[in-house]
Amino acid sequence: MSDPDRATNQPPASIPRHVAIIMDGNGRWAKRRHLPRIAGHRAGVKSVRRVVEQCIGYGIEALTVFAFSTENWRRPQDEVGLLMELFLTALEKEVKKLHQNDVRMQVIGDRSRFPTKLQERIAEAERYTASNRALTFTIAANYGGRWDITQAVRKLGRRIESGEMSADAVTEQLLQSGLALAELPEPDLFIRTGGEQRISNFLLWQLAYTELYFTDTLWPDFGKESFAEALHSFASRQRRFGRTSEQVEEQERAL
Ligand code: IPE
Ligand code: IPE
Ligand code: MG
Repeated sequence: MSDPDRATNQPPASIPRHVAIIMDGNGRWAKRRHLPRIAGHRAGVKSVRRVVEQCIGYGIEALTVFAFSTENWRRPQDEVGLLMELFLTALEKEVKKLHQNDVRMQVIGDRSRFPTKLQERIAEAERYTASNRALTFTIAANYGGRWDITQAVRKLGRRIESGEMSADAVTEQLLQSGLALAELPEPDLFIRTGGEQRISNFLLWQLAYTELYFTDTLWPDFGKESFAEALHSFASRQRRFGRTSEQVEEQERAL
């Protein structure tokens, strides 16, 4: 199915509330230009800025981006070090602008392994932008979907251990409330750039019913048009959540 609005340059018929992105392909982008990998990551920061602006423009409530996975520590030490530096400088440079644009910024993941200065800057940025409402912009850093579920289970475990609740009282909703993005709607649209078609331990629980979109475009090349393309693909899909299409169409007519 294709979105008829695409051909006429109309905005997509339905806009996701929450978009989650695996920003992949920075290294290959740099390699093609005979540049060091970090040049690709730097170019990737510009794409992040662009997509944040796009989300505000479209009235999207939440954007979550995967910046560093729990597995990315396996990369060469110098790349990891440069990525940490880039994270710090990007934070220092961008936070004011995010605040001016009414963006609330937060980081999910285990930040205890980050350099102290980076941890402090993250906490400052979160405090500074905490009451902003136009967009919730979440950066997943030293994040893993398995880590997230594990830490939520640990919280419930403590409550059971203390006698506050019984194991039988554990529900999906209770477990969900301990996850990193508990207060946000679940992602409606997932985008992965760079051609790979895998989840790479990103939001495992939260992506249960998310529409998946994969593109070969490398993250630094992911611009306004690419994002519009992804949104149009989203708008052309029928989300059934287990029901039949007849049921969904009937429900839509009733609205
Ligand atoms: C994604 O780009 C950014 C991070 C994982 C930090 P990559 O660095 O994975 O780029 P490729 O996959 O090597 O092209
Ligand atoms: C996933 O990208 C993590 C981020 C984008 C931060 P990778 O490029 O590290 O993923 P794999 O290892 O190729 O699956
Ligand atoms: Mg990659």
